[in-house]
Amino acid sequence: MRRSDGNFLTPRHPPLESGIVNPLFLKKGVDMSNANGMVNKADFSEKAEKIARNIKQDRYAFTTVIDPNLVWLDGKGSRISISENGQRRSLVDASAGVCTKNLGYGNERIKKVIRQVLMNQKEVFGYPFHDMENDYALDLAWALTELTPIKAEREVVFANSGAEGVEAAVKLCYNARSKSSRRNRNRKDFIACYGAFHGRTLGALSLTCSKPIQRENYPTNAFTNYHIHFPANHPYFVYDDSGDVQFIDYGASEYLEEVKLACRKGKIDIDSVNAVIFEMIQGEGGINVASREALQDLVRFFRSNGVYVIVDEIQTGLGRTGKMFAFEHFNIDPDVVVISKSLAYGFPFSAVVYDAKMGWTQKGQQSSTFAGSPLGSAIALEVLSQLTSENLPQRAYDLGERVLGPALRTIAQDYPDVVHNVRGMGLMHGIEFWNPNTRKPARHFRDEVVLQARKLGVLFLDAGISTIRITPPLTIGSGSEDKGGNELGTIIKVLTESIRAARRSMKRIQ
Ligand SMILES: Cc1ncc(COP(=O)(O)O)c(C=O)c1O
Repeated sequence: MRRSDGNFLTPRHPPLESGIVNPLFLKKGVDMSNANGMVNKADFSEKAEKIARNIKQDRYAFTTVIDPNLVWLDGKGSRISISENGQRRSLVDASAGVCTKNLGYGNERIKKVIRQVLMNQKEVFGYPFHDMENDYALDLAWALTELTPIKAEREVVFANSGAEGVEAAVKLCYNARSKSSRRNRNRKDFIACYGAFHGRTLGALSLTCSKPIQRENYPTNAFTNYHIHFPANHPYFVYDDSGDVQFIDYGASEYLEEVKLACRKGKIDIDSVNAVIFEMIQGEGGINVASREALQDLVRFFRSNGVYVIVDEIQTGLGRTGKMFAFEHFNIDPDVVVISKSLAYGFPFSAVVYDAKMGWTQKGQQSSTFAGSPLGSAIALEVLSQLTSENLPQRAYDLGERVLGPALRTIAQDYPDVVHNVRGMGLMHGIEFWNPNTRKPARHFRDEVVLQARKLGVLFLDAGISTIRITPPLTIGSGSEDKGGNELGTIIKVLTESIRAARRSMKRIQ
């Protein structure tokens, strides 16, 4: 297979480690296994490479990888092993696999659950849940309705990804309108925030607005939608409708004032608005943390105008911010909550918890072949039970308050020439870079810091325009336990060193 850089990708690892043989090799008449079913690695590599070079493939898997030279190998706790240009390396993963591994890699109890499902059911995936119920999914639905503190009587629908969950949330709001008074029945519009990320399928993409490239070329009017400024409790950079960078530095009351003005000027027809969707902390958008006061004002305003409130907890969810759900910090009562990513430990799975009155009433209105699979549901049950029994949300809160937050604020104080600000809750923090002279975001500088950090052994992901996000597993070693390492300390140390290195290597901060 050929990569975008023109080099051939040699399928090195899976056939060697797992014994799973790519059918392409068999087709080419190369069977590597000997009588014991074992593979001679050296022999295999050589032949595989030759084949890869000879195959004229003009189609290959599309990805948006961090770097095509990195290949995933395995993980344990907060560390991952990767192959970088063929060399095995160990990195601390400050991203928890894009917030899927809140419980850390290689979780033994999750592995046990997978084995148990296999033992009990023989067929781990089972009959599609929307066509035949299974005990694991029913148990999970019960657990989720109990754990998600929305005031209404609750119900759950399962889906397979964050975006699919968001679309189910949107449909729920349409359901509710179809059951409501004639006056409210035609509310078709949705409001989301600039900087928001809610997924990439065409419905969810109408709401997503964190980078212009996500929306370019695609219809983003699946339902007429408006974007408002995210009511952050700190200044931040964000793209506007035309893709230009805006610097937002509002006081808490200004967010609502702006929305009211838009309504008065007819830019938002509030009587046609069905629902508003919020992340409590924008993840992809740059780790922008909502102001409690501004968010509450907005929610109150929307509610008083008959607008439903959806909360996207896909990235913030399940303990990361110091509570099981981030919305619990803000004392708001959403109608719909969308959960995914860490819910099933990275197994494709999402769940939407909603006010039961909004639910579907007729067969055929909603379904999804793979949603609520026994395996995904069993994993999710185990995730929830570990989060609860090990009090991991509290641990995330403590580490965020005592260790990560203060350390990042010290870095910000030490390097005011490059750090704009630090924001976050629990184990979800961001550090934004800028050039204070030009007051512009320092994206290239941020990229350099990420690169330097990887050389020094920590994998950071970027977010927003010039932010690094720090979202490690909630189980990360902090040096305070009897056993285990201090990966959180490593993250902080490497971040500091990488900022220093980037300052040395970049003459102009940009
Ligand atoms: C807050 C939020 N919503 C929705 C999504 C979309 O999830 P998925 O990629 O599973 O469709 C993401 C993914 O990063 C996310 O962070």
